Amino acid sequence: MISHSLTLPNGITLKNRIVKSAMSEALADASNNPTPDLIAVFERWSAGGAGLLITGNTPVDRLHLEHAGNFALDDLSDMARVAELASAAKSGGAKVLAQLAHAGRQTPEAINPHPISVSDLRLDLAGYDDPVAASDADFAAVIGKFVRSALLAQTAGFDGVEIHTAHGYLLSSALSPRINTRQDRWGGSLANRARLAVCIARAVRAAVEREFIVAVKLNSSDFQKGGFDHHDSAKVAVMLQSEGVDFIEISGGTFETPTAYQHTSKSRSTAAREGYFLDYAQAMKSALKIPLMVTGGFRSADVMNAAIAAKKTDLIGMGRPFIIDPQFPAKLLSGSITAAPAIERDFPPAEDLPRGAVLNWFCTQLTHLARNGRPDLELSVVDGHEQYLEMIVKATRRLQNVRR
Ligand SMILES: Cc1cc2nc3c(=O)[nH]c(=O)nc-3n(C[C@H](O)[C@H](O)[C@H](O)COP(=O)(O)O)c2cc1C
Repeated sequence: MISHSLTLPNGITLKNRIVKSAMSEALADASNNPTPDLIAVFERWSAGGAGLLITGNTPVDRLHLEHAGNFALDDLSDMARVAELASAAKSGGAKVLAQLAHAGRQTPEAINPHPISVSDLRLDLAGYDDPVAASDADFAAVIGKFVRSALLAQTAGFDGVEIHTAHGYLLSSALSPRINTRQDRWGGSLANRARLAVCIARAVRAAVEREFIVAVKLNSSDFQKGGFDHHDSAKVAVMLQSEGVDFIEISGGTFETPTAYQHTSKSRSTAAREGYFLDYAQAMKSALKIPLMVTGGFRSADVMNAAIAAKKTDLIGMGRPFIIDPQFPAKLLSGSITAAPAIERDFPPAEDLPRGAVLNWFCTQLTHLARNGRPDLELSVVDGHEQYLEMIVKATRRLQNVRR
């Protein structure tokens, strides 16, 4: 049941099974520090009743942001602000993880025209330039940066970190035989392609305290021909388990194949449109001893409880419902509602909208929630999308001015 607590391998107990999955907030200032708006939205989410909150994409390296509004965690971070963020996120009794990430070739050219990546293969989207294939020394530095950010998160009062190994960022692209074309010890066999994620999990686990949660978000599949698939995914999950990871979250897709944030029409059955990655989860769950979290599409309590009862997952990750109603977990747990908000089902099909429109509408609404305490549900999908694009252009200009 979603209301049941769960004790993780490191002995830390989550009060229930509902997790706010990572959602990139675009609410950091021009120096990539948390703003009062970011802190306020985490306080609101903590009061909403979820057992665990995960921050949005938090880069370990300022030259490899996912966008200009990311809060970055490194030696330049304002640690008083970071501690305020952790404390706000825990104020309602939730645990909180910082999602540590390195964008790799998914770093916009306005941030860094030639980011390091696993190979020199460029992202097939506008706004991204040619990456540079990382050297051994670059990989060693990346591992060191994940460790440094995890230690900073621990000092600031976070309960743990989640290492972002999904959605096409550096660690996820290293797993893909399509993008990782290397012939050295970082490419070729699955063990070589998984080396970066495994080394990071090992180094972070060794550096932090035992009670500090170390989780990994992993793709079940990239959904790209010749990419990382679910057979390999289950094997990588087992490798990560051996490194002392406390749970694995599974998701799927990349920037080029954005499967994680799909929205399906009302015509499909509830089970078919919820739990996008649940079928893959079952195979992974049976291969693992540590808990599994599945994210993507869950909305009705019945589907969530059935997935836990059928041992397909231990934790239920949700994203978009937290933007529409930050109080929904408490309502779902008390039975006053039977399903989380699923506003995206009323939107036109993705093919009738500009690329990324639904995701960008939610990003704009996240800003409204943080600033005004509620989303602006009168805003059309296209207007919300355009407002987001403008917001990122302005944030990029501010960041460039500060860096100049
Ligand atoms: C606005 C927005 C931002 C997101 N940012 C991230 C992110 O920073 N890191 C991540 O792993 N997933 C990110 N996601 C994906 C979510 O964590 C989640 O996997 C996805 O929304 C599917 O879950 P849902 O159907 O409950 O929304 C984001 C999703 C949304 C809607």
